[in-house]
Amino acid sequence: MAKIKPRIIETDEGIQGDFNVTTYDKMQRRLRDKGWIETNRIIAFGIDSGLALEIGPGPGYLGLEWLKKTTNTHLKCVEISRDMIEIAEKNAKEYNFIDRVEYKQGKAEVIPFSDNMFDAVFTNGSLHEWPDPMKAFNEIYRVLKKGGKFFISDLRRDMNPFMACFLKINSQPKEIRPGLISSINAAYTKEEIVVILNKTPLKNAIVSKNMIGIEIKGIK
Ligand SMILES: C[S@@+](CC[C@H](N)C(=O)[O-])C[C@H]1O[C@@H](n2cnc3c(N)ncnc32)[C@H](O)[C@@H]1O
Repeated sequence: MAKIKPRIIETDEGIQGDFNVTTYDKMQRRLRDKGWIETNRIIAFGIDSGLALEIGPGPGYLGLEWLKKTTNTHLKCVEISRDMIEIAEKNAKEYNFIDRVEYKQGKAEVIPFSDNMFDAVFTNGSLHEWPDPMKAFNEIYRVLKKGGKFFISDLRRDMNPFMACFLKINSQPKEIRPGLISSINAAYTKEEIVVILNKTPLKNAIVSKNMIGIEIKGIK
């Protein structure tokens, strides 16, 4: 088996700047329009009611689609980038969900919400940017109610290189492609994540991998 290259850390400030956030929004909007935002996996795990927290929502489509596909649900989000929050708030208005969602600037490592507050926590594509995932996993445990569920998904660095190439050439707009490759290079392998999880209260999580990523899910 080929040796896996070490992680190349991408950023510890999140996605900033008008060009970067607009390009990211265009990519995610296109995926949303094609029905490729993976909200159904979160709902299939039983995250379908109450108050949820999303970490690193970016332009917000995952959470907004979750609100659209569930009833009587509410969402709070913690996002490091002010620029992303501006786009997410604009998108929330377009969905007509401003009374169901709140975006707060902050970090996964210091979640700006109280203990035992959420029925669920979910996040996609953000983990590889967190400077200290162990701290973030402790925080996820802290803000979850007892019996609350968590669902964390991200890319994985050890995906098949042909798959990485396939993803790259199919990513639109094409300006997003360098960012996609740097995200893959910064992403964790399943084995690396298990080592980190084992040092946190999320150690009983189910960790699985698919063609392009990893999923971490469990119950407090
Ligand atoms: C690659 S984007 C993923 C956006 C969205 N979740 C999705 O599925 O498309 C990663 C997001 O996480 C945010 N982020 C990065 N580090 C963070 C941290 N430590 N705490 C909170 N948000 C963070 C970035 O600003 C960015 O909006």
